[in-house]
Amino acid sequence: MNSTVDAPRSALPAQLLKGQKALVTGANSGIGMATAIGLGRAGADVVVNYVADPDAAGKVVEEISSFGVRAAAYQADVSQEDQVTAMVGRMVEEFGTIDIMVANAGMQRDARFTEMTLGQWQKVIDVNLTGQFLCAREATKEFRRRGVVPAVSRSAGKIICMSSVHQLIPWAGHVNYAASKGGVLMMMETLAQELAPEKIRVNAVAPGAIKTPINRSAWETPEARKDLLTLIPYDRIGDPEDIANAVVLLASDLMDYVIGTTLYVDGGMTLFPGFATGG
Ligand code: BGC
Repeated sequence: MNSTVDAPRSALPAQLLKGQKALVTGANSGIGMATAIGLGRAGADVVVNYVADPDAAGKVVEEISSFGVRAAAYQADVSQEDQVTAMVGRMVEEFGTIDIMVANAGMQRDARFTEMTLGQWQKVIDVNLTGQFLCAREATKEFRRRGVVPAVSRSAGKIICMSSVHQLIPWAGHVNYAASKGGVLMMMETLAQELAPEKIRVNAVAPGAIKTPINRSAWETPEARKDLLTLIPYDRIGDPEDIANAVVLLASDLMDYVIGTTLYVDGGMTLFPGFATGG
């Protein structure tokens, strides 16, 4: 019998993104990894960006290549302008262009407010917000240069920002992270408004609690799991593939009229679950 994870995966049309070229940042683990694999399974060629752990990136490339599409791992720190410029330039050189930029790379450096160092604040803003700005900007230059190629897609390019339920839900002890995702929301909507006339679609996916290394402490013990599930009306922790499926759909022409939207993929976490019995 298929696992619950396999079911939604295999239901996606295999060639939905045929002929498109995608770059996923932070694609050697967690949500980025599942997303890169999902895009490859949907027929896209994929660049797997990573900053550390080339072996993990290599395994993702291998899996994507097994679908008969092209894949390569590129190292770059998304918070460094020269590295992002070089990465997108290399992709255009080696793959011909870029059609889909998934600005996914993100991190947490948690601390209570007065214990949070400027370094912790800055690092998270640099990677989660500035990194997405740089990746979106470099991809946009290429989308604009190439324009629409109707045989490939109705749009000139797609940017998908990986946000979080914490673009909406305040999160004590994580002010750097919540501020970075709040910033992603306004950045994404502003870019969507600015770029839509050029047929560039900018949208975001906002995951809830997804089982990945970033939040291991929130799901690895039975007690933590139980606490976490009180925040999720749908009563299951998300799988990275739940997010990958949302990205694949948003990137595809099935969603061609979707501009500046955040797709929450969170099992209902943003529905104020405390009010199901309170208020
Ligand atoms: C965070 C996770 C957290 C989830 C729900 C995500 O954006 O990275 O650590 O479990 O939001 O709170």
